[in-house]
Amino acid sequence: MTGRTRNVVLSALTLAATSVALLRAVSPVSVEPQSGSTTSAAARVERGAYLVKTMACHDCHTPWKMGPRGPEPDMSRALTGHPSDMVMPPPPALPAGPWAWMGAATNTAFAGPWGVSFTANLTPDIETGLGTWTYDMFIATMRTGRHQGKGRPVLPPMPVQIIAAAKDDDARAIFAYLQSLKPVRNRVPAPIEPAEAGK
Ligand code: HEC
Repeated sequence: MTGRTRNVVLSALTLAATSVALLRAVSPVSVEPQSGSTTSAAARVERGAYLVKTMACHDCHTPWKMGPRGPEPDMSRALTGHPSDMVMPPPPALPAGPWAWMGAATNTAFAGPWGVSFTANLTPDIETGLGTWTYDMFIATMRTGRHQGKGRPVLPPMPVQIIAAAKDDDARAIFAYLQSLKPVRNRVPAPIEPAEAGK
């Protein structure tokens, strides 16, 4: 065998081996696409549940009730936002000094120099929650600090910068979990401008 023929034979063998390896790598995936994607969707929702629990979303988006040891999130209203039947009176005026803002007993309404903000209903209800939101809208909101990436600025104390720092997979998991919740109808009031709120 000349050097040249040997090289041609070797490349042909390498090519054949690569094709076999490629086929092996590809075939299991193409045989079972369904079960693979179902498992990862379930795993994503489970991870999202964990992240929502540990990233404090319940702290503001689940109304607090008085428990035996003080206020605690009322999990029967998990992630439904400021209760529509709890109409807040105008916030009391604060004296000059270092106290700058205040919160409702439910920890779902806040008054400060930005006016009054109410926590959003994060369940996938079409009319009153995140039912029409896509993941792209969700992540754009967090990354720009604007409603769905282009609307009005999202008001304090919503920690948009903290969620914006989540890795893409984690942000996707949070959104997937929120979308997996039972939709609950609860219309949260629109925020109140500082002038209107007497701020
Ligand atoms: C410290 C309180 C607080 C925490 C913690 C918090 N939020 Fe919020 N969130 C708010 C408030 C207040 C608003 C309403 C802001 C507004 O109307 O501009 C809000 C609004 C939102 C909105 C709607 C934004 C829009 O443009 O309509 C989404 C989505 C959201 N929060 C998701 C989350 C998620 C997910 C978590 C947990 C990772 C979380 N929030 C944690 C207070 C909080």
